[in-house]
Amino acid sequence: MSHVIPASLFAGGLVLGVSGALLLQRSPAPVPVAAQPAAQQAPSPGPPSISKPATVVDAGPSSASSLAVSNSQLGPASYPGPVSDFLQHAAYVSGYDRRLRHPAWTAEHLTAASIKRPPSPPGGSGQNVDRALSVFREDERIPEMFRARMVDYLRSGYDRGHMVPAADAKSSQVAMNETFFLTNIAPQVGAGMNRDYWAHTEDFVRRLTARFADLYVFTIPLYLPRQSSDGKWRVTYEVIGNPPNVSVPTHFAKVILGVGAASSNDRKLAPPPAPSSGGLTSKVGFATHDSHMLALGAFVMPNSVIPNEAPLESFAVPVETVERAAGLTLFPPAIKSAAKRLCDTVKCQIIVREFGDKSKSLSAPAPAPGAVPVRSQTM
Ligand SMILES: *[C@@H]1O[C@H](CO)[C@@H](O)[C@H](O)[C@H]1NC(C)=O
Ligand SMILES: *[C@@H]1O[C@H](CO)[C@@H](O)[C@H](O)[C@H]1NC(C)=O
Repeated sequence: MSHVIPASLFAGGLVLGVSGALLLQRSPAPVPVAAQPAAQQAPSPGPPSISKPATVVDAGPSSASSLAVSNSQLGPASYPGPVSDFLQHAAYVSGYDRRLRHPAWTAEHLTAASIKRPPSPPGGSGQNVDRALSVFREDERIPEMFRARMVDYLRSGYDRGHMVPAADAKSSQVAMNETFFLTNIAPQVGAGMNRDYWAHTEDFVRRLTARFADLYVFTIPLYLPRQSSDGKWRVTYEVIGNPPNVSVPTHFAKVILGVGAASSNDRKLAPPPAPSSGGLTSKVGFATHDSHMLALGAFVMPNSVIPNEAPLESFAVPVETVERAAGLTLFPPAIKSAAKRLCDTVKCQIIVREFGDKSKSLSAPAPAPGAVPVRSQTM
């Protein structure tokens, strides 16, 4: 019933780059799929303020007047448009990058209850949330010029990779449908990545709801430089579509904050505690209800085939590494310093299994096998 949990994200609010503070709430009433663009509210010219739950959105011509003073030097050019489109949904919020035409970031609040299907009411005519009923769709909240198009992905060789996984949004069909907006999608290598290691990582994140009362999860496409033979660092990436429209990230980050121990009911599915190194685990006293417990983990994975044997922990990086690479402040310093390392708290390990989920895939040519995660980049 109340599978939609009203809860504010990151206790005091969450700072996202220049977009100011943002208070994520699971909306009690699901947002209809054909949602209106989020509030037309110009970003404040002042420094981001934590106390103000701001929604930074389109600052198009309609809001230009409010910026007239600060932008007077720009003359008729005025304010050049939004930093990112802030999009709100039943199961997640996201920022869209109009230049790259995929999400700049997505954020979710997961609990053991939120990732479950709603219970069927007695009588059996319950709502059956099914991803087979969802279809990918262009997001008409984004102006056509900046929109990712279905044709861009067609025969691109890449999967339409969910940033917020559909399986995280089983609370309602609306919630699941909303994960199929192309504003929640980025081009991902299919076999060996989106359909395999990345899917296993998403599953790992969901299993963490058995350990933590609340999980806050960012998924962030990244463009990381690689050193060329002349010694200089460059970012190179493919752009799909004809004409080219949608950029292909070089990497993807998952950033996970676990808050408070899950109740013992929810702990049955918990990943086992870390082995010997996990002396910490016992010190933390996971079994007790420690509502102040914080654990923070960040993983950066290449957008290429990753062998299932690669240890999940080998992709772990400090959260600052992701923040620096993404240009986003994901957590206030107090959270970062108070949080334990996720992989010291739980066993960071994927479980390899067939998802049998081919609905994500387009008939994509498999990428060259044997590609190895590239971890030498500076981030
Ligand atoms: C989900 O999407 C499908 C396909 O577009 C549509 O037929 C269905 O009505 C949607 N369901 C809800 C609850 O919005
Ligand atoms: C994106 O692709 C479409 C064709 O599918 C094209 O008409 C459009 O101009 C492209 N958009 C951009 C911004 O290049």
